[in-house]
Amino acid sequence: MRQEDPVAPHPQAPSAPQAEREAMRRALTLAARGLGSTSPNPVVGCVVLDRARRTVGEGWHQRAGGPHAEVHALAEAGDDARGGTAVVTLEPCDHTGRTGPCSRALVDAGVARVVYAVADPGPGAAGGARTLAAAGVDVEGGLLADEAAAGNVAWLTSVLRGRPYVTWKYAATLDGRTAAADRSSRWITSAEARADVHRLRAESDAVLAGSGTARADDPHLAVRGIPGAVQPLRVVVDSEAAAVGAGARVLDSVAPTLVAVARDADAAALEGALRDAEGEAALLRLPRASEGPGLDLGALLAALHARGVRSVLLEGGATLAGAFVAAGLVDRVVGYLAPVLLGAGPAALGEAGISTIAQALRLTVSETVRLGPDLRITAVGGAAPGTAHAAGHVATTATAGAKKPSEQPEES
Ligand SMILES: NC(=O)c1ccc[n+]([C@@H]2O[C@H](COP(=O)([O-])OP(=O)(O)OC[C@H]3O[C@@H](n4cnc5c(N)ncnc54)[C@H](OP(=O)(O)O)[C@@H]3O)[C@@H](O)[C@H]2O)c1
Repeated sequence: MRQEDPVAPHPQAPSAPQAEREAMRRALTLAARGLGSTSPNPVVGCVVLDRARRTVGEGWHQRAGGPHAEVHALAEAGDDARGGTAVVTLEPCDHTGRTGPCSRALVDAGVARVVYAVADPGPGAAGGARTLAAAGVDVEGGLLADEAAAGNVAWLTSVLRGRPYVTWKYAATLDGRTAAADRSSRWITSAEARADVHRLRAESDAVLAGSGTARADDPHLAVRGIPGAVQPLRVVVDSEAAAVGAGARVLDSVAPTLVAVARDADAAALEGALRDAEGEAALLRLPRASEGPGLDLGALLAALHARGVRSVLLEGGATLAGAFVAAGLVDRVVGYLAPVLLGAGPAALGEAGISTIAQALRLTVSETVRLGPDLRITAVGGAAPGTAHAAGHVATTATAGAKKPSEQPEES
């Protein structure tokens, strides 16, 4: 069955006046502030213009369970919202969840016009455009929809595909090595690049590593150096329950941790370590992969999705990343490349089910950024129809966030 593309081009709104377009740009910037802290909800930004098209209120959805962007912006606008325009990055909601419906709040505030970017893709298209129109509000959708969809790609992916959006991140030399032949690997990339990884972690709901990485590096997988960042869920994929032991750094109190093991694994020792952990740590039992080693990655993503995880940062290593690519479960690749040559040593990506050039997974570079001496390359896209690698899709994400030097190596 053909999958709907969460970031397929949307019809634009050519009649939208300049003030609304500028307000939408501002709303997109505001929305990006919520990355990493709103799941399972989308990121949303809102700007309220008065009758004279002056900005009188701004807001963004800051955390799940908290007020929606429209509510923040309307509160700031007060009476100035009456007869004005609300510009919002996502179709206002129409349901009463933990907060009231935004369609009702906009009507009550006396807003005359609502301009939104992306329609709510939820089941039964449960957005509030119809309710607003029925209440006499002038409603228009589609303004800067592609930019808004790109900024919300994790949430849109999760709604449309029923699994989190997966970013595979790696750090390597210019010749694609992640370590030297003797396996020494510290300081391949610069402090700037390593700090940027913490921004990526802060924007993700979960950070994932394989048992090989857990054994080799004892990684921490939490965010450092970004004040106020919401810590992601740390996930270690450890089929035999043999790689994470008492005292592992992922068991500290900085962030919650989940260790995924096979249903039939003897996890007695691990369960003891999780019980004694300083922080919140739990065991997740999953079926083994039907083909090849390890756990069923689809079941892993489904279990994370059920826990509200909408975006996953896959930090490797190469074996686990190869399995994700082979399963068509990588939506975006972020490579940190250092101008360093090694000539030998492990490659960034392991076996990915590709044996001939015709099966190569060809991506599209969506962004390149210099970070100190290094390059960050972001690539998105999918395989040609008919190959085993169904699927990546995606678009650039917002790149807002701190970029402070970190003392830690990229593997941790
Ligand atoms: N430069 C970088 O960006 C970077 C990032 C991370 C790691 N690294 C380096 O990479 C090395 C470790 O990589 P690695 O390839 O040996 O190990 P890995 O990819 O971290 O872990 C692989 C292991 O994950 C487990 N696993 C569970 N389910 C799986 C599945 N469906 N498919 C594949 N594996 C699954 C398997 O072991 P079980 O079945 O026994 O659990 C497998 O052996 C370390 O030296 C580390 O320093 C580098």
